[in-house]
Amino acid sequence: MSKVIITAALPYAYSIPHLGNFVGSILPADVYYKYLRMDEQDVIFISGSDQHGTPIELRAIHENIEPSVLADRMHEEIKSLFEKLECTFTKYGKTHCDANREIVYEIFNALNKNNYIKEVKSVQAFCNVDKRFITDRFIEGKCPYCGGHARGDQCNDCGRLLTPEQLIDPICKICGKSDITFKEEKNLALDLPKLELDTRAFIVKNSSNNWTKNSINKSLSFIDEGLHAREITRPMKWGFPVPVKGYEDYVFYVWFDALIGYIGITKDWNPSKWRDYWLDKSSMLVQFMGKDNIEFHALMWPATLIGSRLGFVLPRTLRASEYLLSKELKFSKSEGIGLNIKTALEIADADYWRFCLMYIYPETSDSEFSLEVFEEVVNKIMNDKIGNLINRVFIIYKKNFDLIDESIEPDQELIDKVEKLEADYVLRFESIELREALHAVIELAEYGNMLMSKYQPWTLVKNNNKEKSIELSKIMNLEKLIIYKLGILLWPFTPKASRNILSYFGIDKDPLLEMLDVEYNKIRIVDKEIKPIFSKLTEEQKKKFEVFK
Ligand code: MF3
Ligand code: ZN
Repeated sequence: MSKVIITAALPYAYSIPHLGNFVGSILPADVYYKYLRMDEQDVIFISGSDQHGTPIELRAIHENIEPSVLADRMHEEIKSLFEKLECTFTKYGKTHCDANREIVYEIFNALNKNNYIKEVKSVQAFCNVDKRFITDRFIEGKCPYCGGHARGDQCNDCGRLLTPEQLIDPICKICGKSDITFKEEKNLALDLPKLELDTRAFIVKNSSNNWTKNSINKSLSFIDEGLHAREITRPMKWGFPVPVKGYEDYVFYVWFDALIGYIGITKDWNPSKWRDYWLDKSSMLVQFMGKDNIEFHALMWPATLIGSRLGFVLPRTLRASEYLLSKELKFSKSEGIGLNIKTALEIADADYWRFCLMYIYPETSDSEFSLEVFEEVVNKIMNDKIGNLINRVFIIYKKNFDLIDESIEPDQELIDKVEKLEADYVLRFESIELREALHAVIELAEYGNMLMSKYQPWTLVKNNNKEKSIELSKIMNLEKLIIYKLGILLWPFTPKASRNILSYFGIDKDPLLEMLDVEYNKIRIVDKEIKPIFSKLTEEQKKKFEVFK
């Protein structure tokens, strides 16, 4: 069986990820990972903090601490939030670690040796007060296109990509002054035009492996536009120093060591096993990210790996999500305000967020989050459709235990329908259509509800008549089977609820898909106090959304 490496784009460590970041990469990657674990595949799930870059360095300067201290503090906080969200990484590492530094140098030296690194010149801003270059977010000003608030690399308002020279009234974000000179400055760049043919071949060959439409379309259009050399260094201090003479004051550009971080973090996880995954040609690398990351994953990253000729596996599948939007609520990333994974957990538990976000997962188009959506999903679907069914079945079963004969077989055609929904779920996961997989689970619950209304088991318990008790046993044995299966199938989405449901069947280990193949009369409900699996949103919880409006 081939090994599988699942990665989720590494969140920047300078602020708490918001819900859109979470649903864009970590959550779907975790859901898929949990599924492959249920399928007993040899799979690892790698993510971590993207710690380098100008925002961390800038904030560290202002707070007067070392960037590494700030970056590690943020890393620990974000990591524990993902753990509270029940994400089970093989390793949630960080880019600023020795293992990553080693791989970054190994890959850079190989690229250099293979002549894929060249020097390029561009005009950059230099602050005469701080006596340093101020790139990207170190410089801000007015946007020449819309007059909005822009940074050295992009306008915050209209989104256009910019160079620092284009900014109107630029100021230095370190000292706040505008004593700035524009100078020609050198950088090292990856010579992408030399790798264009190989990169195109990579895209053509792999994009049939369940890539999302946006990743196929964007990568083809980027490559059709033609590739240009891409800078991989920056004249700043925070990052891995560039080991080349004349580049003593440079570090690698954040994207270069972040992508390589997937390998570096795996090495940090296990200093010998990492090779079994990354250097085995048959490994399947499946990468989750937001759509704004496609260019890096489809071009820069494979080109880096190909050019190094070190034999690392190339991505087999790119899963890029669209955006989660909200007209009503603020998702702002800056300074940890807005609806982010920390404030979200202060409102509701992991299962509610995981379920709701996967239900509206922007897998094929942007989707909209609002309090109404959250309330609808929590109350009408999680509670009314799933939780309520489970509760009713357990209660009827428990109350009428003596009347129910567990050896009586439910009607085969009803079992067939259950198996069909289950097969649907598996197929959806195989094509990595995660939202559809969740919908198959919901359909199974709907089917259970439909059977309850149709057969009304509570009317069959009244008088002790043989025929009725056969009917009762048939339907309740089927409902029991459905609930048991729901407990297994919910695992990737709502692990807490899944554990809870399975505990009623005396199961206390992580579920496996093979547990689905069970005889209806082998499943036993244990004697345990029956409590609701989910609860509805309270007024108090709803009030907590007010501050984000
Ligand atoms: N930190 C980047 C972002 O949030 C993603 C980096 S992904 C990696 O957009 F591939 F570089 F790791
Ligand atoms: Zn300055």
